[in-house]
Amino acid sequence: MVSKSDPKRWQRILSGPVLVITGAGLSADSGLQTFRGAGGLWRNYNPMTLATPAAFALDPKLVWEWYQWRRDEAMKAKPNAGHVAIAQLATRGQDCLIVTQNVDDLHERAGTPVNQLVHIHGDLFLNRCTGCDYSNREPICLSELPPSCPRCRRSPLRPGVVWFGESLNPAFIERVEDFLRRAKCGLVLVVGTTATFHYIIEWALRAKRSGGVLVEINPEETELSGAADLTYRERAAQVLPELLSF
Ligand SMILES: NC(=O)c1ccc[n+]([C@@H]2O[C@H](COP(=O)([O-])OP(=O)(O)OC[C@H]3O[C@@H](n4cnc5c(N)ncnc54)[C@H](O)[C@@H]3O)[C@@H](O)[C@H]2O)c1
Ligand SMILES: [Zn+2]
Repeated sequence: MVSKSDPKRWQRILSGPVLVITGAGLSADSGLQTFRGAGGLWRNYNPMTLATPAAFALDPKLVWEWYQWRRDEAMKAKPNAGHVAIAQLATRGQDCLIVTQNVDDLHERAGTPVNQLVHIHGDLFLNRCTGCDYSNREPICLSELPPSCPRCRRSPLRPGVVWFGESLNPAFIERVEDFLRRAKCGLVLVVGTTATFHYIIEWALRAKRSGGVLVEINPEETELSGAADLTYRERAAQVLPELLSF
């Protein structure tokens, strides 16, 4: 059994390559709502029915209003002690990759270098044309929803996030695959995610098979709980600073 009560072993584990996988539960400690679980609703809509290509096709204005609300919430939020502890881990000099399903920018604002961070589900602040390859990160004009593309002037812009049912960016997948091929992980840290996506489960299990100790931080049980070597049923912002300190 792995435990922090064996400081030498824990230090060895922490100094090896580390794969960190984060989800909405980490940003919940900064006040941002999760999708699943208590309090995950907006104007009585279920987020899982808004974050889809079909929802955008049906009512792009409604979907944009929801994303604008999420941008406002994310801008008001501050990185919490969990984001900061992960940023400190990432900047200690060892091989470390953070794969976040979060679309907010709290990892970056906590100081995690962008070359060690993969936003596997995209970027909340990105606007992307649905018809051409134009994108920008400028604030959108709220009187014109959906905003139209300034380049092709034909198609609406959409939020630069990955919706349910859409493919991941192959370049982002390759960054994770490259890390997994290269690094023999000491630690696999899975924080605040329900781990419902098969690739999240697969990456965590592959990193564990390469030798990594799998640690889960989540108040609730998930698909990955059975594979965890160490489980903390507590809040991310509470556990991470102590867990990741040398
Ligand atoms: N902040 C964001 O960017 C944000 C917010 C909501 C949803 N999402 C999107 O939601 C999708 C859903 O996947 P998901 O698994 O990330 O989120 P999820 O909403 O499915 O699940 C959140 C998980 O976090 C756990 N949790 C809640 N509070 C916690 C805390 N304080 N500390 C640790 N864990 C806590 C819950 O038990 C749950 O397992 C992703 O595609 C993601 O892009 C992103
Ligand atoms: Zn365009």
